[in-house]
Amino acid sequence: MKVRYPAMDFARIRPHWAPHIEFVQRANASSTIPSHVEPYLVKVMLKAKAELDPSETALHEDLAVFIKQEAQHCKQHNAFNERLRVSGYPELARYEERLAADLARFLETKSLKFNLAYSDGFEAMGALGATMWFDVYNKYLEGADQEAVDLWRWHMAEEYEHREVAFKIYQKLYGKNDLFNGWLYRVYGFLFAVVHLMGYGKRVGKYLLETDRERMTQQERAASLAREKEFAKTTGKRAIPELLKVLSPFYNPAKTKAPEGVGPYLTQYETEGA
Ligand SMILES: [Fe+2]
Ligand SMILES: [Fe+2]
Repeated sequence: MKVRYPAMDFARIRPHWAPHIEFVQRANASSTIPSHVEPYLVKVMLKAKAELDPSETALHEDLAVFIKQEAQHCKQHNAFNERLRVSGYPELARYEERLAADLARFLETKSLKFNLAYSDGFEAMGALGATMWFDVYNKYLEGADQEAVDLWRWHMAEEYEHREVAFKIYQKLYGKNDLFNGWLYRVYGFLFAVVHLMGYGKRVGKYLLETDRERMTQQERAASLAREKEFAKTTGKRAIPELLKVLSPFYNPAKTKAPEGVGPYLTQYETEGA
């Protein structure tokens, strides 16, 4: 695990950065999540780090890298999202404000245990993201702007790389040898994060696409709805079985199979701007 500082430039990115706009707008909706969740994750992990015994040196080091990686992800997504935010989707800001308010409330009113379980749930979704962006989405990436593809593949590859960290710190502080906390409460945090964040992604994606469809003819709109349906079917087929694995008491993110090409992909970012 290491921190990488890719030199990315989104100045030329268009909101429709690939021809399959139904895929693109779902990805754009998802891109606004790290802008809010990853700064929240950093705060949660700093609190957790303060609770962790100093003798846990390896986990302390992993947490330090994790925090720096998430800070870079958020920074790059923010730069990318700026292009979307200035491209004619006026309600987007309100969706984002509500997400930010939810996360602030979790930090303020809920326990560190809850916030860590939620964070671990988010991380489980991130590791799934690597599978999607390296294995499943190839057909939707034909003709895509490379900068957008690079942003997502770099981010998701690092999510795969640090997939165990949130799980380990949760288990260390709250879950070891305890079926209720180690499994059931972890699953509760995961399901909470899935409903909260997938719900957000779905609502924002719908808003972005509905805005686009206002400019479409009836025929174009029907074709767009059909493409959206096909995309949902393709992704659900792969994502649902992967998400179900997280529910198992034997789930261990360390054992998640690496998506094709995920390791070599990151090496290209290891000398840039460090
Ligand atoms: Fe991230
Ligand atoms: Fe992460």
